[in-house]
Amino acid sequence: MNDERLIAAARAAALNAYAPYSRFAVGCAIESVDGEIVTGANMENACYRLGVCAEIAALTAAQAAFGLDQVARIAVAGGDGSGAELTGAGICTPCGGCRQSILEAAHLSGRDVEILCASGDGASHERHSIAELIPHGFGPANLADAG
Ligand code: THU
Repeated sequence: MNDERLIAAARAAALNAYAPYSRFAVGCAIESVDGEIVTGANMENACYRLGVCAEIAALTAAQAAFGLDQVARIAVAGGDGSGAELTGAGICTPCGGCRQSILEAAHLSGRDVEILCASGDGASHERHSIAELIPHGFGPANLADAG
């Protein structure tokens, strides 16, 4: 799938967000090495700290569909999801916690997973690798000395 279509899938997924508190809708689309696509959106809660990010929702779907070790590319977009399509000019990058969860998939797969960080309106995006977004990250290998 090309960049534009993966970003379009993330933007469409954002319309499924449940984000009444922040009113910031985020969508995430994950492509497997075989070209399979799963998506997720953020889901907030009246107990604010229990909210789930779009990337975590999508990674959970990815694990169920094809396994975290098959994750190849990720697109994220965030903005105003109250209309017929996602809007907003700001680029949405994964939060720190989501970077850590993407890193887990990257370590499992042995790939420096690519992340397309898009604006809500899809007009612009930045391309990053997970190693760029979370340098010197803590992963499964860091547990080697556990008792
Ligand atoms: N959010 C995500 O879904 N992913 C991110 O990487 C950044 C933040 C959500 C969490 C919350 O529901 C809303 O965006 C505002 O922070």
